[in-house]
Amino acid sequence: MIYPIVKYGDPVLEKPGTTITEFDDELKQLVADMFESMYAAQGVGLAAPQIGISKRIAVIDTTFKEDPKAKLVLVNPEIIKKEGKQSGNEGCLSLPDFRETVARAKTVTVRAQDLHGKWFEHTGEDLLARAFLHETEHLQGKLYISHISALKRDLMKRKIRKLMRAGEWA
Ligand code: NI
Repeated sequence: MIYPIVKYGDPVLEKPGTTITEFDDELKQLVADMFESMYAAQGVGLAAPQIGISKRIAVIDTTFKEDPKAKLVLVNPEIIKKEGKQSGNEGCLSLPDFRETVARAKTVTVRAQDLHGKWFEHTGEDLLARAFLHETEHLQGKLYISHISALKRDLMKRKIRKLMRAGEWA
């Protein structure tokens, strides 16, 4: 099932998710739904709070369906290594039509559990490194706009308030 994407302003996006302890069919279904919802929204990463579920799960596919092996499920992820620097445009499905330049590490290693509860480590570069950081932060209740200047963030919030008043942000 395709879930609607929760937009900025909903408190679920700024609340840390709970740790997953049951690796059952319900979790498998949720992950399948998360991939479906992410693709429907044209995204390359999605965290469970973005569909209103405050749990530590994220899905990523930086190839957007091109390579089935690129589909990644991160349960209870934590960043264990960051190296180098990259600067690039970043956006978020919960902040549609906004993009900002965000400095991130170039190479990032994440440690997470898979659908069976097995721990693994995965190292990504460039876009994948950015996705690891962005999605893991979602599960801590943190959004990418915490990395931009206060001036840019305030401007963005003003624009969003305007959209809210116009009924174009729901
Ligand atoms: Ni996001």
